[in-house]
Amino acid sequence: MHDLVELESVARTLALRAGRLIVDERPADLGVAQTKSSATDVVTEMDRRSEELLLTELGWMRPDDGVLGEEGTDEPGSSGITWVVDPIDGTVNYLYGLPAYAVSVAACTGDIDDPERLVPVAGAVYNPVTHELFHGRRGGGAYLTTGTGAPVRLRCSTQTDLSQALLGTGFGYAADKRARQGALLAGLIADVRDVRRAGSAALDLCSVAAGRLDVYYESGLNPWDRAVGQLLVLEAGGVVRGLTDAPSIDLVVAGCAALVGQLAGRL
Ligand code: IPD
Repeated sequence: MHDLVELESVARTLALRAGRLIVDERPADLGVAQTKSSATDVVTEMDRRSEELLLTELGWMRPDDGVLGEEGTDEPGSSGITWVVDPIDGTVNYLYGLPAYAVSVAACTGDIDDPERLVPVAGAVYNPVTHELFHGRRGGGAYLTTGTGAPVRLRCSTQTDLSQALLGTGFGYAADKRARQGALLAGLIADVRDVRRAGSAALDLCSVAAGRLDVYYESGLNPWDRAVGQLLVLEAGGVVRGLTDAPSIDLVVAGCAALVGQLAGRL
């Protein structure tokens, strides 16, 4: 059996370290270092440096584990644990100086060669601007620790009326896909309380766990965008599903069971 307390502790430590790095060492003239799937899907030098820090520290702390990272790390391990890391989730917010970005560090079981099926068992998401550290482990609850304060247990919203629900979502980087996502959202917006697009899927899922959003959906999320957040939603009493069953790149819907059921029927 894996020591989930130890894995959560490692996740917390590394999310904090990488989060401090991206704030403290951000160059004044930060620019785009590379683009990926489209001209608006950007990487900065700090995404790379944050992933390097996570990879190096995991090499010291957990040498037998695998590591999968957004910026290209794909190193199998032998322990049965794979770390799934997003060195900056919300890179566009980071580039523009908007305070909704985070480092996400998840310990998962499963096969690194089948990343969609990796199962998060412990993790942490850190927003270095608000000093909020969302963290948890399977069976151990979801918590928010702010600065040096005591951890506060998280609970999903109990809203069951979709017309009263604050809905979060996000969009992909490909123009044609964004157009389809916009059209789908246009069909929903009149039927909910309001809509938020914060720009970091990791934080969106933490917001669901914290009851700051009633429900959330997005298609196109990679494992590093959702791994910690989906664990925390479950630990906060919510449900996370995909088109049919498990969440996947096709669809993630998260919130309380009643809202997820209603929303999934519309997607
Ligand atoms: C993105 C953010 C965004 C979501 C996109 C993700 P990145 O991650 O989480 O909120 O809508 O789908 O790709 O590129 O900032 O790491």
